[in-house]
Amino acid sequence: MIVFLVNGKEQRVDVSPDTPLLWVLRDKLGLTGTKYGCGEGLCGACTVHIDGRPERSCITPVGDVQGKKVVTIEGIPENHPVKKSWLAQDVSQCGYCQPGQIMSAVALLASKPSPTDADIDSAMSGNLCRCGTYGRIRRAIHAAGGRRARKGGSRS
Ligand code: FES
Ligand code: FES
Repeated sequence: MIVFLVNGKEQRVDVSPDTPLLWVLRDKLGLTGTKYGCGEGLCGACTVHIDGRPERSCITPVGDVQGKKVVTIEGIPENHPVKKSWLAQDVSQCGYCQPGQIMSAVALLASKPSPTDADIDSAMSGNLCRCGTYGRIRRAIHAAGGRRARKGGSRS
């Protein structure tokens, strides 16, 4: 039995410890906001927070989160500045990558409330978006952090 906290609530799951955390979140706990993209830790679609750090749930065995705190996109309040900013900046296109993008952005702003463009590009580089929303993501992060976006940039 694996016991851990998900979005503040204790969960007990009877699965093999090497089951990917992503499968447990989606299939056992019904938290389908976290997406499956590559399954290899390369795209960031499955990003969740584990003890406050953004991690790839597709390559994290659930046994590794025993006793830890996991937060998914469902655990970020609707009135969180990042979610509000995402809507205000109309960031999403198809939306598939966006839960992972938001989880990375929330973690970035928690550690660096007023990031530079370089900070954002570095923190977000593991989150791929096939729709190319990088420019709006950057603007939304600046806005959520209360900093004005600069013009230009390589990932727009
Ligand atoms: S699905 Fe986990 S990094 Fe791509
Ligand atoms: S919004 Fe479509 S993949 Fe990012």
